Amino acid sequence: MSEEVIKVVGGNPIRGTIKIEGAKNSVLKLMAASIIAPGEYSITNVPMISDVGIMADVLRTLGAVVELGDHCARIDTTNLTSFETPYELVAKMRASISVLGPLLARFGKAKVAMPGGCRIGTRKLDMHIASLEALGVVFDSEHGYIYGAVEGGLVGNEVELAFPSVGATENLIMAAVVAKGTTIIENAAREPEICDLANFLNKMGADISGAGTPVITINGVEEMHATDHRVVGDRIEAGTYLIAGALGGGPLTVEGVDPNNLRRPLAILEKMGVHVEEGPNSITVSHEGAFKPYDIQTLPFPGFPTDLQAQFMVLSILADGHSIITENVFENRFMFADEITRMGADVRVDGHHAVIEGVEQLSGAPVQSSDLRGGAALVLAGLVADGETTVSNIEHIDRGYEDYVGKLRSVGADIKREFV
Ligand code: UD1
Repeated sequence: MSEEVIKVVGGNPIRGTIKIEGAKNSVLKLMAASIIAPGEYSITNVPMISDVGIMADVLRTLGAVVELGDHCARIDTTNLTSFETPYELVAKMRASISVLGPLLARFGKAKVAMPGGCRIGTRKLDMHIASLEALGVVFDSEHGYIYGAVEGGLVGNEVELAFPSVGATENLIMAAVVAKGTTIIENAAREPEICDLANFLNKMGADISGAGTPVITINGVEEMHATDHRVVGDRIEAGTYLIAGALGGGPLTVEGVDPNNLRRPLAILEKMGVHVEEGPNSITVSHEGAFKPYDIQTLPFPGFPTDLQAQFMVLSILADGHSIITENVFENRFMFADEITRMGADVRVDGHHAVIEGVEQLSGAPVQSSDLRGGAALVLAGLVADGETTVSNIEHIDRGYEDYVGKLRSVGADIKREFV
């Protein structure tokens, strides 16, 4: 059986402009939120990636009519017929769990298969469950499914999250919008995608304040309605191409992203010797010579995003000296580090730390992506490696990057997809 791979030959200068799509981690939740109120939604700036296709299928199995195309999702949730998401779909993508809150809001019940998705450590659901229980939901789990139901309607409550989980914050918000009374979330996640979701829900008639801060207040409303919305730019896609620009010299401009959503990564790029210029909705990088080593630790927003950890590690690997990258958000998110040693990198992983001794040059090799961001980072490494790098298991990359190869080729990379 033939497999599609990405082949990249290192050494080309990388310069030009790349248009950034809407954020994967926002659009999936906006699509899920359309379950809450019946009606016709139009979501624009939608990235054409496989995860969006999976969420569309999840909504279709519930009875929604979904049309995808031209960076737009048209969703009609007037006649939902089911409150159950089947294992075949949910197992493909963890973000499917974000239909839990919306289904509870619409039907007072939800049956959702336990999700699969990225294999980055054990990603538990305990905070999702506990916070929805606080609104009156009773859960049962068996045969790989979670079943939640609420008698007599959701009721607002004060909920303090043990960790600012993005997914748990979102599920709780999406249930609380229609709960009786007020819900206050303490230690809420502050990611820009949370703000995008809150803006979307407020346009639907919700009453949410404080999104983007650690305390979010939701006054439950009786009625919500469909709306139109443009998805916020994808800061992780932008950050990935900025690394390509830094590696390939630049100047490389990403357009369609707010630099305020990348404060920490941009500050670190400058510490590593990369020249950064900002526009209102664009960022340009350029670089000459060796990168300076810099210790990085991932943290919830506004800290450095775990979703850019592998990409930044490519810079550390080529830096002039040693550095440490500490992963604080996920267990076991260093699969990339193991694979990149095949290209000559000197990385030693010890628990939550990767200790990196910079090398002068990477050498092209056959490598396998084991997750979305790690796969993207292997391609970045290939851009500067000596000779050809062949990246396999590229379906991981297609989950979150629209036309990764085409965009990199448009700024000078010697790169192609090929069936082998
Ligand atoms: C989202 C993003 C993902 C990003 C992550 C952190 C989407 C589709 N995915 O994932 O790209 O890397 O935020 O910024 O938006 N946890 C628990 N119990 C829970 C929930 C989470 O222990 O109930 C743990 C997880 O195992 C993980 C940490 O909390 O170690 C952070 O997870 P969370 O913020 O929930 O990430 P996701 O929403 O899954």
